[in-house]
Amino acid sequence: MPWFLPVSYIAAAVLFILAIRGLASPRTARAGNALGMLGMLTAVTATLFSPAGGSWWAVAAIASGGLIGTCSGLKVRMTALPQMVAAFNGFGGLAAMLVALSEVSNGSPARFDNALGLIVGGVTFTGSLVAFAKLQGILSGKPRPTHLAALTVLIAASVLTGQFIRQGGLEIFWILAAAIALLGILLVLPIGGADMPVVISVLNSCSGWAAAAIGFSLNNMLLVITGAIIGAAGTILSYIMAKAMNRSLINILLGGFGGETKAALRSENRTAKAGNPQDAAFIMENANKVIIVPGYGMAVAQAQHVLQKMAQDLRQIYNVEVKYAIHPVAGRMPGHMNVLLAEAGVPYEDVFELHDINREFASTDVAYVIGANDITNPLAQTDPSSPIYGMPVLDVAKAKTVFFVKRSLGSGYSGVENPLFYADNTIMLYGDAKQITEQIVNALEKN
Ligand code: TAP
Repeated sequence: MPWFLPVSYIAAAVLFILAIRGLASPRTARAGNALGMLGMLTAVTATLFSPAGGSWWAVAAIASGGLIGTCSGLKVRMTALPQMVAAFNGFGGLAAMLVALSEVSNGSPARFDNALGLIVGGVTFTGSLVAFAKLQGILSGKPRPTHLAALTVLIAASVLTGQFIRQGGLEIFWILAAAIALLGILLVLPIGGADMPVVISVLNSCSGWAAAAIGFSLNNMLLVITGAIIGAAGTILSYIMAKAMNRSLINILLGGFGGETKAALRSENRTAKAGNPQDAAFIMENANKVIIVPGYGMAVAQAQHVLQKMAQDLRQIYNVEVKYAIHPVAGRMPGHMNVLLAEAGVPYEDVFELHDINREFASTDVAYVIGANDITNPLAQTDPSSPIYGMPVLDVAKAKTVFFVKRSLGSGYSGVENPLFYADNTIMLYGDAKQITEQIVNALEKN
């Protein structure tokens, strides 16, 4: 092995670890990304110059993969990022399957790590395709009860794996690969569309473990290290997401929660007060302090830029103190709101995490809740029978006035009705988050 290979691989591994560290905060995320790219460049260059790696096939594959990655990265909308991640995880799984295939075709003896790469890679590949299809609306997000079929295929796949490790051979490889591909589909079908972000994080972690397994097959130290980093990071992230939703990972992966529950559960004898953007502008310009609570609807409406304009107007024209409150699972992916607010140029020092700001609502004149729902629902604290019971929520009800900007009284991700819509101090601003906020900005600039 040439001397530069282990040196470059260790340098790349260190750069990947620093990249993950950088990605932990919006302030350092760009630098983290750059370090990750540098790590990948180091790893790829070293591999290309190694005796085993420098073929034109490899150069062509890297160039076409790079082109596809660049085009999709430039084209993808922020709200479609989860499905893009799902698709890319799937390709990671497919790569692990192909490496296992090439090992078996080359006549290498079947080994446990090879089988592991095939199994984890295969489940990741087809599971990610189903997750992608659900998020993209190609498949319905409704949970489908395929547990029994999954169990049957799992048993068959376990027997086949034993046989594959004992005997090896291409024939048994293909049968096992087909069973595993089917298993991936059957495992993800019962999970509701709304739980897909957690599933994607779990599959992301699986793609890492699959890479680590093929790293052992290929005797490639960098693949083992990188796979383990991705696997561990994905596992921790899945755990954090489940915990912040007060669900267990098992509960999420067994499925049946959060399908397409969009019907409004309106209570017979309660009415919600509706307001208009002009009144909202008047109340906010006369406030001392406004806290903005963004949620999934802000992302859908892409209202972050006009929201930042509203905050600037309130500060600069009316001298109002404005802060942003971020719930750990607001939106549909970790850091969703932080990324969008950063994109709109909201200064980091104006953005506060739940635990740092929750006490401030009691001394706040206006909570401007834009496209958020579950993350403010007090039932999470008071109703043990609620599926969101135990999830920490933003105490927006403690503000003097609460504006909810959304299109209806419909529920959010969890399908649970939010009693705050009917509270005395709540005013509903019905409509698209971007349009309503634009009208408020117009009113603020006219008044
Ligand atoms: P949700 O509870 O899903 O509420 C979002 C609200 O936005 C909906 O009630 C919807 O009401 C409204 N909306 C949709 N499009 C809109 C538009 N164009 N303009 C205005 N409003 C719009 O979102 P949340 O409060 O951000 O809570 C996040 C939920 O997702 C939590 O339950 C969390 O557990 C779950 N979740 C989060 C993650 C991560 S990691 N963030 C991952 C998986 C699941 P209308 O239809 O009435 O407009």
